Amino acid sequence: MCGIVGLINGHAVAADLITALGRLEYRGYDSAGIAVAGPGFAVHKVAGRAAGLIPGINQTFGGQAGIAHTRWATHGRAEAHNAHPHVVDGVAVVHNGIIENHAELRAELIARGHRFASETDSEVIPHLIADACAAGAEPAEAVRQACTVLHGAYAIAVLFETAPDRLIVARQGSPVMVARGDGAAAVASDPAALAGFCTEYAALADGDIAELGRDGIAIMDFSGRPVVRKWEDVNEGETGTELRGFTTYTRAEIAAQPEALRRTDAALLPLLLPDAVAAAERIVVVACGSSLFAAATARQWIEQLAGVPCDLEIASEYRTREAPISRGTVAVLVSQSGETADTLAVQTLFREKRVPVVAVVNVAQSQMARDADLVWPTKAGRELGVAATKSFTCQMLALVRFGLALGLARGTVTSCRLAKIEREIAGLPEICHQAEALEPQLAAIARMIAMENEALFLGRGPGAALAAEGALKLKELSYIRAEAYAAGELKHGPIALIREGSPVLACVGEHAEKTLANAEEVRARGACVVALVGAAEAARFERIAEHCVVLPGSGLGLVFAQAVAVQLIAVHAAEVLGRDVDRPRNLAKSVTVE
Ligand code: F6R
Repeated sequence: MCGIVGLINGHAVAADLITALGRLEYRGYDSAGIAVAGPGFAVHKVAGRAAGLIPGINQTFGGQAGIAHTRWATHGRAEAHNAHPHVVDGVAVVHNGIIENHAELRAELIARGHRFASETDSEVIPHLIADACAAGAEPAEAVRQACTVLHGAYAIAVLFETAPDRLIVARQGSPVMVARGDGAAAVASDPAALAGFCTEYAALADGDIAELGRDGIAIMDFSGRPVVRKWEDVNEGETGTELRGFTTYTRAEIAAQPEALRRTDAALLPLLLPDAVAAAERIVVVACGSSLFAAATARQWIEQLAGVPCDLEIASEYRTREAPISRGTVAVLVSQSGETADTLAVQTLFREKRVPVVAVVNVAQSQMARDADLVWPTKAGRELGVAATKSFTCQMLALVRFGLALGLARGTVTSCRLAKIEREIAGLPEICHQAEALEPQLAAIARMIAMENEALFLGRGPGAALAAEGALKLKELSYIRAEAYAAGELKHGPIALIREGSPVLACVGEHAEKTLANAEEVRARGACVVALVGAAEAARFERIAEHCVVLPGSGLGLVFAQAVAVQLIAVHAAEVLGRDVDRPRNLAKSVTVE
C-alpha cells in the first residue's frame, strides 16, 4: 500500500507531483508529503489527502526534481510527522512496503548516534543511506548498500541534496515503475499516475536499482550489472468511470456495471484455454476480500459446468499453510488490482511448484498479469471508489466464462445447457440495470439498517457468497457491524445474535424453501426480515418479510441482481451516516502489504 511518485522534468515539479499523487490515493490516503530539490530541500507533509499539500506549496518549491508519497499507515499513527518523505542529512526517501527488521536497524542506528523523527519502519532507510554517503558512497551505491541490510518489501525513491538532478529507485517485493518522456524521467507505484508527464514506463523487477535523470534511465541489479526491462506505453486512455451526475464514484461505478459486463464478455468470448489448463484435475481458486467472494459465488458454477472439483482458498492463509498440491492442479488467482501482496505470494509459490496459473485480473499492466500463464481478463475499467463494485460483478462473469470454457474443452457442457447459460450471460447487463431501478426501496432498507446499526446476511450456494459480499460492503462503506452466514449454519450458534428488530437480509436463490424456513426461524425470534428474491419465490417471502425486494432474473441473473442490491444498500447506509463513500476510513484499494 502507499503510493510513491518522483519526477524530474526541467521545470518546477511540485504541482505535477501533487497531481500524480492524487491519482495514487487509491493506495492509501491517510497522510501525504512532498520533497523538492532546490538549493537544499523544500519539504511539506500533512495528515489527510494529497490536496491538503497545495496551500503549503510556496516559492521554495521551485525545484525541478522531487518525490511525493500518499500513505496507508502501518507503523505509527496517520500524523504529519510520520508522513513521507523522511529526510536525513540531505537524503529524502519515500517508501512503499514494510521493513521487517526495522526495530533492530533502528536500535543499531540509535547506538551509532542517529536520532529519529517518526515512528515509522521506513525512516531507517534514509539513515542507512546517509551513513553510506558519509562513508563516501555515490548516490546509487549508497542506496545499494542500504538495501543489502533491509529485510521485507520495499519500493523506494530517493532524492539527494548533493545530486538534485537525479533520482535513485530500488525495488524488492513492492511494485514500482520508472518512466520517461520528452525531457522527463519519473517513478511511480502505478504508471497511471504519470499520464501526461511521461510516455513510456518499465516495471522494475525485484533486486533492481535505477538511476533516473533527464538524460536517461539506467537500470541495474543489486550487483551493479545493467539489466534490460520491457518498455510499454503509459496508457492515457484508461481513466475511470465519470461521475455522470452521481455524487460518488462508487455509485457511478455501480451504474457502470452493464457496460463493464459487456466489455468483459467481449474480451473473454474469443479466448481459448491452453491444454495444460483444460486438462485440470482440480482447480484451486485463491483470492482476498471481495475477489474471494466473487470466486465463492462461482465455485459451484465451475464444478457443475466442468465437472472438476474447485477449492477456494484465502491467499493469506494458503501462502503459509504448505498445503500438498495434487497432480493436475490448476491455480486460478482472482484480483482486481493484480498486486495484492498475499495473492502474489501464492502466485510465486505456484510458479515454484510449476502449477499453471490463470489470473482473473482487472489491471492488465499488473505484476499478476505479467507473471501468469494465462490472463483471463476482467474489463471493469479503473475503479476509483475504494470498494469493489463493477470489478466484483465482472469477476463473477469471468469465472462463469472460465467454467464454461473448461466445460466446453472437456465436453461436459450439453448444447442445451450451453444455450441456456449463453442466454443468461447475454441478459446480465440488463438485469443489473433493472436492479438499479429498485434503488428507492433499497435506500429505505438501508435507512432501517443504519438505525438498527447491525445486519445479518444469509444465503445458500452462490447466495451465501453474496451474503458475505453484502456484509463486507456494508461494513467497509458504513462501518456498521455486519455478519454473513450460510443460512444452514444459523442454528449452530449465530441465531443467538437475533433480538427484536435485528435486520436479517436473505439472499434467496437456490434451495429457496430451505432459506424460507431459516427466515421463519429468525422472524419467530423478532428479526426484521429483508428478502432479496426473484419473482418466482416472491409470493412465499412476501408473507413473512418486512421488506421483500423482488429482483429481476433467475439463476445466474438473480445473483448479479442481488450483487447490485447489496451494493446499493451499503452505499445508502453509508450516506445516511455521513460516511466518505469513495474513501472509507482505514482502507486502501491496493493491498500491497501482508
Ligand atoms: C472490498 C475490496 C477488497 C478487495 C481485496 C482484494 O470492497 O475491494 O476486499 O477485494 O482487497 O483486492 P484485489 O482484488 O485487488 O486482489
